[in-house]
Amino acid sequence: MRLLKKALAVGLASAMVFSMAGCGAGSKGTTAAPEATTAAETKKEDTSAETTAEAVKDAVGGDVADKKVGISIYKFDDNFMTLYRTELQRYLTEDLGFKKENVVIQDGKGDQAEQTNQIQNFITQKYDVLILNLVQASSAPDREPDTQEEQRWKDDKINATYVGCDARQSGTYQGEEIFETSNKGDINGDGVVSYIMIQGDPENVDAQYRTEFSVKALTDSGMQVKELLKQRGDWDQAKAQQIAQDALTQYGDQIEVIFCNNDAMALGALQAIEAAGRTVNKDIYLVGVDALTEAVQNVIDGKQTGTVFNDHFSQARTAGDMAVKFIKGESVDNVNMVDYIKVTKDNAQEILDKLK
Ligand code: BGC
Repeated sequence: MRLLKKALAVGLASAMVFSMAGCGAGSKGTTAAPEATTAAETKKEDTSAETTAEAVKDAVGGDVADKKVGISIYKFDDNFMTLYRTELQRYLTEDLGFKKENVVIQDGKGDQAEQTNQIQNFITQKYDVLILNLVQASSAPDREPDTQEEQRWKDDKINATYVGCDARQSGTYQGEEIFETSNKGDINGDGVVSYIMIQGDPENVDAQYRTEFSVKALTDSGMQVKELLKQRGDWDQAKAQQIAQDALTQYGDQIEVIFCNNDAMALGALQAIEAAGRTVNKDIYLVGVDALTEAVQNVIDGKQTGTVFNDHFSQARTAGDMAVKFIKGESVDNVNMVDYIKVTKDNAQEILDKLK
């Protein structure tokens, strides 16, 4: 139960991996439907997949095929987390050699009680490694384990690690994207950048940091800012569309920038912007985070000012690699951070090619 408590005590934007080494392999769980894999990049890597699987096999002194990985994602109905879990499943089974039926991915359905049950079942069924993307980030004191917490992991011999991105970086990039426009975000030239902020789940540290650091990047560059509205859109396109629509009705031309904590919401905001007869990059700026294919295409087409690539490939692969390290009994750092990449018109095509 301690392990379970730990799992729920560490908050994460992306995922926490922890090992159940010593528990042995056990009975079955619900097998996730295999996701379609696309992409030239995936195909390219398939040639090396066998080699990677072989290397893993050698290194663990046997096969990982019998090891069981339990994964719980906060909600399947989330564009970014779908990219993440698709890559995670592909990487574990195709590149690392885990058996498909031993990689079980469950949908937390946005419900912490439901997810707690899933984790409890994984533990009862003696899964070897768990990869958890928590529903309720607020059950954690911080996104990263502090020194005391790290010490506790050591003392209690808990094999746990955090894999994610530093959301401050993504917020900073968003602010920079606005500052790098021809008028530094001050479209009407009144000396103040007036914006609305559409937030993800405000309990989530990604939402908090992106909200704070996007604006901070502007003020650090010497800009005056005015927040017309800040509202939670819960990472959701439809909710963001409604928020943007209402805000455009209420504030009209006063809005110079719409900051969205993710791209799904930027897509929603764009629908509202177009419906209101406004034009991105001409009379309003719009930024998101994630680099969803559609959003990157919009950046190329000038319908979104910028986004930030939230590298689901690296995050998923790092989580998979950490799982293998735990199985091998290697020591694993407590925190593994992956870099964000700023996406503007200059490199959007390059990023899009990577995503395909
Ligand atoms: C992503 C969002 C996603 C959220 C889920 C964030 O890092 O940018 O798109 O909805 O994680 O927690």
